[in-house]
Amino acid sequence: MFTGASNLADGVDKAFLFIFIIAFIFIIGISAFMIWTLIHFSRKKGKAPMQFSGSMKLEVVWTVIPTILVLLMFWIGWKGFAPMRRVPPDAMRVTAIGRMWEWEFVYQDSMRSKELVLPINKPVKLDLVSEDINHSLFIPAFRVKEDVIPGYDNWLWFTPNYIGDYEILCTEYCGLLHSAMIAKTRIVEQEEFDKWLADLRTASFIPDPEGLVLLRGTGCLACHSLDGAKLVGPSFRGFYGSQRIVTSGNTQKTITADDEYLISSIYNPDEQIVEGYSRGLMQSYRGLLNESDISIIAEYLKTLNGENQ
Ligand code: CUA
Repeated sequence: MFTGASNLADGVDKAFLFIFIIAFIFIIGISAFMIWTLIHFSRKKGKAPMQFSGSMKLEVVWTVIPTILVLLMFWIGWKGFAPMRRVPPDAMRVTAIGRMWEWEFVYQDSMRSKELVLPINKPVKLDLVSEDINHSLFIPAFRVKEDVIPGYDNWLWFTPNYIGDYEILCTEYCGLLHSAMIAKTRIVEQEEFDKWLADLRTASFIPDPEGLVLLRGTGCLACHSLDGAKLVGPSFRGFYGSQRIVTSGNTQKTITADDEYLISSIYNPDEQIVEGYSRGLMQSYRGLLNESDISIIAEYLKTLNGENQ
């Protein structure tokens, strides 16, 4: 009757079903007894109340039976729980990262995926990492759930038993989009997994854009950030096409950051100084970058006009 989607599911389901059946029997039994006493001992029937105290037999019965039931619950629960903390040494390792508000899975410490793809019938250990606050990774179909706590090395493991797609949820309230912190785990045949991983490897090593390589190679990034941060010089993020107030000689004017301005800034950096920055900190890059290099850089800078602008 048990055919769980993971090797751990049956143990959880058995404990749940056992406790559920006992609770069900008790709630029906106790409710029926209460209703029966209401009717049977009704005052309208004119029965005289009787005073008595103590019943050894009753005391023993209601101590021994619940003790046995609770011990059975513990035993069945333990049988389901113990394997969850015994990872097979050959388990594949994947790092599961939780952050507000998404899951990300890292294969072999380098390849990142938003989807947890796993081969069927192979044990996997998920190392749980939080990048911000407390989350909790829950895969209901596999009956696994562990908290994901910043600074604490938590983990879980399981072996998926069936091909298919299963939901991954966050079960620790973590803010505005907690309920949207959902991912998918896809269980596939080994061959399909190998192919998927190879594709992920290819996708993970897309070469950097040529413009970025030029910026890095010429040392521009030491003084100009790509993320909007103010360093020695203005950031490249949101730079291209923006309006800037510059000082040229003793006069201030507003210019548009286009190719022409870029060439002028690279060849004669002190000629037009952006408001808030100082003269004399940048050398001319004439001879290091030619005009076609600069137009490649301009193309790259256009791609940086993203969300922060
Ligand atoms: Cu992450 Cu709730």
